[in-house]
Amino acid sequence: MTELTDILKFYKEIGADFVEKRDPEPLSELRELTRRILSCTKCSLHKTKTNYVPGEGNISPEIMFVGEGPGETEDKFGRPFIGKAGQLLEKIIDKMGYSRETVFIGNIVKCRPPNNRDPQEDEVKACISFLEAQIKILEPKVIVCLGKVALNNLLNSNYPISKVRGQLFSFMDIPVIPTYHPAFILHKKDREEISRVKWEMWSDMEKVMAIIKGDEAVES
Ligand code: URA
Repeated sequence: MTELTDILKFYKEIGADFVEKRDPEPLSELRELTRRILSCTKCSLHKTKTNYVPGEGNISPEIMFVGEGPGETEDKFGRPFIGKAGQLLEKIIDKMGYSRETVFIGNIVKCRPPNNRDPQEDEVKACISFLEAQIKILEPKVIVCLGKVALNNLLNSNYPISKVRGQLFSFMDIPVIPTYHPAFILHKKDREEISRVKWEMWSDMEKVMAIIKGDEAVES
């Protein structure tokens, strides 16, 4: 009984608001992994953060969204993408026919880099194995990298996001589609620019949905 209470508490912590019938193995692996994230001291970001932001969502998601690292609001509450960029991301997720609870939302680093700077190489090196372990447990059908920091740190690459967004990559044999970070759209001032990048991001999400449907025509 204690075990069941623990499991339900853990589901609540990771933001899942319904429980699926599923092999208990991945759930206990994710709980153990989350426990390790919540006590990590492998880089100096743990000293300046308020809360760890391990990631949250469905334990067997079709889509996993990966951002760069927690911002101010996320750091305050220990949850990913709950600030302004998160609100835009949620709208996109809803439009795709999903919700926060049916996808998984994570980040390259689990602690906020001070002043929202990009995570440094040593910080990514210390943290990336957590993301890899999450991907291995969650087995999403598609990974969506939000912005160049997420993409290039996941793939160990150096692509300009505007050149490769919407293209098909692969990580641990899972299709990866990069797109803009929602904050990039929010920082735009020009109306035409905003609708262009929103439209481009939406066309990237259509590719994600085509992959999930098993559409062979998605090109790399
Ligand atoms: N931006 C990110 O990259 N991740 C978050 O969790 C929030 C904002």
